[in-house]
Amino acid sequence: EALAVFREGVLDWYRTHGRDLPWRKTRDPYHILVSEIMLHQTTVTTVEPVYREFLARFPTIQALAQASLADVKAITDPLGYKVRGRWLWEIAQEVVRRYDGVVPDRLDDLLALPGIGRYTAGAILSFAYGQDAPILDTNVKRLLGRYFRLEYRTTRAEILHQLWALAEAVIPPGQAADFNQGLMDMGAMVCTARRPSCTICPLWAYCGVHHDEADRAAEEPWQY
Ligand code: ADE
Repeated sequence: EALAVFREGVLDWYRTHGRDLPWRKTRDPYHILVSEIMLHQTTVTTVEPVYREFLARFPTIQALAQASLADVKAITDPLGYKVRGRWLWEIAQEVVRRYDGVVPDRLDDLLALPGIGRYTAGAILSFAYGQDAPILDTNVKRLLGRYFRLEYRTTRAEILHQLWALAEAVIPPGQAADFNQGLMDMGAMVCTARRPSCTICPLWAYCGVHHDEADRAAEEPWQY
């Protein structure tokens, strides 16, 4: 029941309150790739205009691969964290050369590209390709950690592994795209780090924050 409430709660909340963002109106893997690289460590508000300018200038991955690195960096460097311009440019070269311009739809292939980690790979697989692939960023860790009672402010590999496994296990089959976007939005807008909005949270009734360990263990079929 806690799992069903979590899935339905996140999906319903996303459908009514999710943010309307340009990269959520597309399933083009190149557009998703550009947005997720830009969104890493940068706010939505900062990224939006740069994302539009970038795609107007380099409308295809081939156009990006043929551009000069300087032209790419001129657009992306103002975002800060300047290595991302080079990553995008190098990814474009490699995707054009090795994959005929088609962004890979396999985790291993994505992870082999410059600047793409598990989070960005999961975003591409779920948002562009509709696969049931997990994402886990700071906001999602906090939401999952609170609801399912796992330590989320950790760097311990073992706990991070459990969080990734959980992020994968909770995906409602076939609905990873909306669900993952919903996780991110709820983490950013409801289940905030300081003063979370528990009174309006659709997950409140089963949230681990208000239950003790013994209650939950009795309820849940999986291991924490
Ligand atoms: N941060 C990283 N990816 C995002 C996305 N798809 N939507 C909103 N914020 C994000």
